[in-house]
This record gives sequence, C-alpha cells and structure tokens, in this order.
Amino acid sequence: MPSGERAGGAGNALVPQHIAIIMDGNGRWAQARHRPRLIGHRAGARAVKRCVEFCLRRGVGALTLFAFSSENWERPTDEVSGLMKLFIGALDREVDELHRLGVRLRFIGERERFAASIRERMQHAETRTAGNARLHLNIAASYGGRQDIARAARELAGEVAAGRLQPEQIDAAALAQRVALSDLPLPDLFIRTGGELRISNFLLWQLAYTELWFTDALWPEVDAALLQTALDDFARRERRFGLTSAQLRPMGEGSQA
Ligand code: FPP
Repeated sequence: MPSGERAGGAGNALVPQHIAIIMDGNGRWAQARHRPRLIGHRAGARAVKRCVEFCLRRGVGALTLFAFSSENWERPTDEVSGLMKLFIGALDREVDELHRLGVRLRFIGERERFAASIRERMQHAETRTAGNARLHLNIAASYGGRQDIARAARELAGEVAAGRLQPEQIDAAALAQRVALSDLPLPDLFIRTGGELRISNFLLWQLAYTELWFTDALWPEVDAALLQTALDDFARRERRFGLTSAQLRPMGEGSQA
C-alpha cells in the first residue's frame, strides 16, 4: 500500500470499514410515479435510514453520504429550498435516535453557504454525538472534491507563508492530512446508484484506491438486500494498491503446497 494511505483499519477485511455513497436517482424515482421531485428526495431520506441500519448491523465503521454537492445550489429554487427543509426535518427528528444508536454525525463541505438555522443544527448534531464511535456518519453537504483539495492546498500555502512549512515538505501525506475525513480510514467501497458511471466531484482525493460499485437501482429503492450484494461483490475483489497479486500473497500463504 502506498505510504500515507489510511486504508481498512482493523476488523474483517471482507467487510468495508468505510463506505462512500452517491445517492442518485431520487428525481427519476418520483418522475416515474408522476410525483414532484421532492417526493423522491423524501423517499431518499427513508433509504438513508435503511442504509444506516444496515451499516450498524454489518459492523461498517464509517458511512459517507453525498447529500448535496457544491453544484446542487444551481438547481431550481423550489427544489433547493425543499431539500433544505428536508435536511432540517431530518436533523430535528433523527439526531436523538442516532445518538442512542452510537452514531457520530459529522458534516463536510462549505458550511458557510447554509443558512444559520441549518448551520446551528449541524453544530448541535456534531456536538451531541461527538463521543460516539460505533458508526461515523458523514454527510457531505455543499461538498465538492476539488474544493476540498483546494482548501487543503490553501491551508498548506498559509503554513508556508507563515514560515512553519517548507515547500519541499508538501507531499501526498501532507495533503492527505488536510482533506476532509483525514482522521478516518479511507473509503474501501464507493457505491453509486442511479445508473451513471462517474464520481461527480465526490471525495476525489480519498477515492484513489477505493473499490467502485455501480447499480442502476434508484436511491429510494435501496434496501439491505441490494447493499448486501455490493458487500458480497466487494468481498470478492482483490485490492492491490499498485502492487502485484504475488506480492500480496507470498508463496505458501493460502496455497495447497
Ligand atoms: C440525487 O438525486 C440526490 C440528491 C441531490 C439529494 C440527496 C438527498 C437525499 C437522499 C435526501 C435526504 C438526505 C439526508 C442525508 C437526510 P437526483 O435528484 O439527482 O436524482 P435524478 O438523477 O433522478 O434527478
């Protein structure tokens, strides 16, 4: 594994320790039912609950969900304001229960772009659940992978300007320490629903060696059976981190001889 990687961690290597998900297809799910897009987002919120319950049952340590991208602000005003109301409702309803279940909630992204009423709820949820460690639930909200890397680079530039760091000390490990979620294992498994085969400016740095899994299922359709299919597929993958199979399985180990 390249130096500076934060992979896997302890535990069963066949179960991903960190899953990152692009929850795509809410709008199409609603349109197929001749309902407004927001109904799809509401159904998407119910799928989030099923997904969190699944991760808790399977012992997944971290789940990062792409709830709202930096680019989603450009959607029609009524969809954006509907999503904001949905986030507020979810925070008001779910934080106590998530806390009871031992979930630690965290938000990554450009928090300053949200209204004070949402920023306060985010802060409250983070403070309330800060002592939990059963599942790290990270919500990417007004998040962009490029923006995340640019912010980390800006921090490094500031340290150079302040004389605390030499330019030669800027390497992959220095950046890795400053991008979002740097204290967690890197995502082992990336899931995207909704049939598109792209990463769409999600955790660009953090996904370098992540196993990718795509499905045509729309996010509101996601249930434990579908998530288990993704985990079963993940368990069959060989993760080489740039090495060869032979290097990963030295002679004798697991062989018949
Ligand atoms: C993408 O589907 C989904 C979003 C932009 C919003 C995701 C939000 C939720 C799942 C709701 C609740 C989330 C939390 C964390 C409480 P899309 O609208 O782009 O679907 P489409 O491609 O079919 O149009």
